[in-house]
Amino acid sequence: MSVTWNYKGKLALVTGSTKGIGRAILEIYLEAGANVIVHSRKQKEIDECVAELKKKYAAKSGTDETEQKSEKEKSHSNIYGFAADLTKPADVSQIVAFIEKIGHLDILINNAGAFYVKEFFELTDEDWFNLFDANVMSGVRLTRHFLKKMLEKDETTKKCKGGNVIFVSSEAGLRGLPQFVHYTSTKAAQLNITRALAELTRGVENVRVNALLPGPTWTPGVEDSDYFTFVFFFPPLADMKGMAKRENISVEDAVSNYFKHYEPNSLKQKFLTAEEVAQACAFLTSDAATSINGSSQKAEGGIVYHI
Ligand SMILES: NC(=O)c1ccc[n+]([C@@H]2O[C@H](COP(=O)([O-])OP(=O)(O)OC[C@H]3O[C@@H](n4cnc5c(N)ncnc54)[C@H](OP(=O)(O)O)[C@@H]3O)[C@@H](O)[C@H]2O)c1
Repeated sequence: MSVTWNYKGKLALVTGSTKGIGRAILEIYLEAGANVIVHSRKQKEIDECVAELKKKYAAKSGTDETEQKSEKEKSHSNIYGFAADLTKPADVSQIVAFIEKIGHLDILINNAGAFYVKEFFELTDEDWFNLFDANVMSGVRLTRHFLKKMLEKDETTKKCKGGNVIFVSSEAGLRGLPQFVHYTSTKAAQLNITRALAELTRGVENVRVNALLPGPTWTPGVEDSDYFTFVFFFPPLADMKGMAKRENISVEDAVSNYFKHYEPNSLKQKFLTAEEVAQACAFLTSDAATSINGSSQKAEGGIVYHI
């Protein structure tokens, strides 16, 4: 995909950015010149991710021996990493303090989230509270701090300091699914919160709050999930290759069969890539989207039938 964004000098936190959709979003901002904070709960994965990105972008910026670029062309982005479990208020305070030392946060992407299937009658209070903590309160805690900062007036310019907040929700938030209603309702809650918080930006030109609603996207979280097996008696996605081999069909045909039978409304008829979703996110926070605020932006391959 060759879309060029300019986020030079901006500071972006993408929660849950060691893998999946979060990682793809983080890479787009990095490639566009932003300083980024890699985040998850696992320090080791963060360190590996930061090292990989530094290598990749050093190469791109021509600091390796094979491709020398002019000083002007070189990437000077900083890549930070911080581990925090966003269900723990003490961890949230620590990551907030860490970012405050770096500078003003321009972009907050509330992407970290968890999902697992469990029948409604089996769901305990603990299941409900845990998922609301991981998917809703995680974003609430960070936004409570950083949106306030974005709305603060800069003493010199007398304008708000500015910024963009995105809640990565899901098309599942628009259609309640009984096989994991505790998850789909967290995604619905994010939409309501988005709209409410956007109200706080009334009359402010440089602060916006939006939700992004991806559809089924091929990520480690989805690949490892038992969703498809549980709901559709479909082989685990991780075994898609094995299934294709056993049935003597290509992996593409195996995926296509899945969509034909179980997601007939999808116009895309295949999984989105994390990068496709990330591009929609980069658009939403860009100056090309200043007319979009408080919105629930679908990026779901047309799976939601209603207008
Ligand atoms: N993939 C899809 O089909 C799809 C569709 C619609 C919406 N979404 C939404 O998109 C977001 C990302 O999904 P994904 O498929 O990319 O997920 P993923 O591959 O499972 O990655 C999830 C990320 O979130 C982090 N995370 C989870 N719980 C956390 C917590 N309590 N504190 C800090 N970090 C935490 C994980 O870090 P750890 O390594 O520490 O676990 C990981 O980095 C989620 O909000 C999901 O609901 C996904």
